[in-house]
Amino acid sequence: MNTQEILEKQKQYLWPNHILYYTEPLALEHGEGLYVWDVEGRRFLDFFGGILTTSVGHNHPLVIARVREQVGKLIHSSTLYPNENHVRLAEKLAELTPGQLQMSFFTNSGSEANETAMVAAQVYTDNRDMIALRHAYSGRTQLAMSVTAHSTWKLGKTFSPDIKHAVSPYCYRCPLKLTYPTCDIACAQDIEDVIRTTTSGRIAAFMAEPIQGVGGFITPPDEYFKIAVEIARHYGGVFICDEVQTGFGRTGTHWFGISHWGVEPEIMTMAKGIANGFPMGNTITTAEIGKAMVGKGLTLSTFGGNPTSTAASLATIEAMESEAPPAQVDDVGAHLRAGLEKLWDRYPLMGDVRGKGLMQGIEMVADRKSKEPAPAAVNQLFEETRARGLLIGKGGLHSNVIRIAPPLTATKEHVEEALEILDHALAAVHETWSVS
Ligand SMILES: Cc1ncc(COP(=O)(O)O)c(C=O)c1O
Repeated sequence: MNTQEILEKQKQYLWPNHILYYTEPLALEHGEGLYVWDVEGRRFLDFFGGILTTSVGHNHPLVIARVREQVGKLIHSSTLYPNENHVRLAEKLAELTPGQLQMSFFTNSGSEANETAMVAAQVYTDNRDMIALRHAYSGRTQLAMSVTAHSTWKLGKTFSPDIKHAVSPYCYRCPLKLTYPTCDIACAQDIEDVIRTTTSGRIAAFMAEPIQGVGGFITPPDEYFKIAVEIARHYGGVFICDEVQTGFGRTGTHWFGISHWGVEPEIMTMAKGIANGFPMGNTITTAEIGKAMVGKGLTLSTFGGNPTSTAASLATIEAMESEAPPAQVDDVGAHLRAGLEKLWDRYPLMGDVRGKGLMQGIEMVADRKSKEPAPAAVNQLFEETRARGLLIGKGGLHSNVIRIAPPLTATKEHVEEALEILDHALAAVHETWSVS
């Protein structure tokens, strides 16, 4: 099928609220490494990696080989039967995650992983209330949408009254109108205020992403997580760290984003980059929390921890260790960041550049003084980069943040190629905006 034929069927048979990028949506056909091709044979450098998911690039040979081998033996078993890949992956994740995290429950998506985490926190603490952050994105199930704090991503009518939202550590648009560092990290103190004014005073959890992903790569100040988590623990809660976007070396230096802030969660969730595109979510907890589930209710997952996805994940992690370890992501990410900052010097529509490692965002604004969000400039930049063969992502409450997150196997040469396209695309956008 060509693009038009696919789009016609999409229109007829798929829910129209599937978000599609680009004025003329892009039907992808195959991929290899950092590149993807559309059904008409056009090639694109993929700097969004299927939403931060193809960690080691498209069609990685090791992942393909291991999956083929497993598919030839046993595709599926359900969690009713133990299997070797399942326990090997759980052991590996206990090794890679920080602190005392040890026991996993595998599911199929980030939404499910977060749902599982919140249930575990409530069962373990015997408390109900949970504190999340504004600008969070947590998934598409009802409880996950309750955590999500973007009106645009809340589909439905019923959200959990157990979730209360504190302000986000969003320095570029400080919700408290303060300036770092004289603010004394008042955004973290807001958690205490929210607990004391909107909950029973005892909470089950504080749940947050180390860098808010869909929120627009909002990166908290250094002190934030230590203060926030200490407050949460003081009121009886555990810290659920949502590493769905930031996990697996994405932010450089460490395997998981929260380690930049020296905090050890009691519960961590992961998905996206865990298996290079195979559906998988995981909720890893301390042994104490895992054991506390016993006798509180039965649970299973039909597809969770299945032999095929776990084979893909083990292969993905092995490939990351040898081809894209966190130190390398840090190095290539620093190169990307330096290049983006050079572009910032030349293009005033770029309000803020932020992020860590290979997770870099550009907040686009009408002008740097008013900081008025410029989603139309982002839309044009999308078309201009696509026309030049580069795929990027977007996010933010106002859809005015460019999200750049290539596979972790990106090299400095790939980064140079992307920066050059971005440069030309930004020049074209600026020309339009300075004329209008
Ligand atoms: C931080 C975060 N948590 C959870 C999710 C939900 O993951 P999924 O789409 O796999 O359900 C997402 C998805 O974008 C996410 O970015």
